[in-house]
Amino acid sequence: MKSLAGILMLLALFGCQISKGTLSDSSSISSEDIPLKELASARGIYIGTAVTPGPLFNNPEVAYSNILVREFNIIVAENDMKFENLEPSSNNFNFSTADKIVNLAIANGMKIRGHVLVWHQQSGWASSVNNPEALSNILSNHIFTVMRLFSNKVQYWDVVNEAIDDNLNNSATTFYPNLRKSFWWTNLGSNYIEYAFQLARAADPTAKLFYNDYSIEAYNNKAYYTFLLVSNLKAKGLIDGIGLQMHIDTNFNPYSNGFANNLKRFSDLGLEIHITEMDVRIPVPSSYENYTAQAKTYKDVLTVALANTNVKAIIFWGFTDKYSWVPQFFTGYGNALLFDKNYNKKKAYDAVWEVLK
Ligand code: G3I
Repeated sequence: MKSLAGILMLLALFGCQISKGTLSDSSSISSEDIPLKELASARGIYIGTAVTPGPLFNNPEVAYSNILVREFNIIVAENDMKFENLEPSSNNFNFSTADKIVNLAIANGMKIRGHVLVWHQQSGWASSVNNPEALSNILSNHIFTVMRLFSNKVQYWDVVNEAIDDNLNNSATTFYPNLRKSFWWTNLGSNYIEYAFQLARAADPTAKLFYNDYSIEAYNNKAYYTFLLVSNLKAKGLIDGIGLQMHIDTNFNPYSNGFANNLKRFSDLGLEIHITEMDVRIPVPSSYENYTAQAKTYKDVLTVALANTNVKAIIFWGFTDKYSWVPQFFTGYGNALLFDKNYNKKKAYDAVWEVLK
């Protein structure tokens, strides 16, 4: 594989400009030569993907691991570091798959996002505990056990995920009335979030701690209440970053929905920003126009996002349409990622490549 430094030196020598597929002279530098991660590294950011163990370990697909290692320099387990998987029964931890993912990342020089310590979904047996003191101990034991095990290996943790409700009381002046009434909230009250961040800070002071949520990318009310929540945590020194999931479709227009202002609001707080779960779903079967619109959405979002220097990571929720949560959850939609089901690059890949370049 050519190194980016070497390629840039060649370009400088020949006075060429990188352009995908063609150059002004006879040589050719294209997305075939420079993987996304080299372009991202040159900009000082990380580019990454969620991974699933099936094609990596259970029924290995060479194309899956080749693309993963070639293109990305940060990964996140799509499901394997969630509560129900790491602690399938009380104080009984199972790190087998998570360990494999972490070791794969380390062996390939990738950073790791830990997802997720506290969520209202995929929390298994803990979600039926109706006893505040017991649940408080469960939370503490889980966070300490998991974060200490992965200390110095997992650099970023989604400490709390999706704690803001979708049905908002828009006249509220604080975030408290708009917290999701999850089992965490019911048992531990509104302060469970701050408590989780305190535990996480104590468990691994070297990790960067994130709050992560969906539909908070535009300058909307959910983003506003999220802003109030993370402002409160930031004032107490408990949080380092905000994760914008970014599960979107082609109607998402970052030039008209306040995306840049929203990023600014978070970066002005001094938070690092990660796009944590990006995918752009389109109708299936998908037309040429659908794929073209999808590529434009990827391009526009990344262009605006990368103009904010606090945006340090762009992570897709998978990279091949063969393995994506979208068709199961959005009937009639799919094909949301950068590679098709046969691992061919799509226009969306080219769009991301062009922006990173
Ligand atoms: O593990 C079981 C397996 O044993 C069983 O045979 C199979 C049958 O359907 O189900 C498997 O569990 C599935 C699990 O993913 C693991 O593949 C669940 O049914 C399925 O609901 C679950 O979906 C995950 C979803 O979170 C759960 O809410 C998706 O894969 C995952 O992509 C999605 O990820 C979330 C992020 O964590 C948070 N943000 C939103 C994002 C998309 O929903």
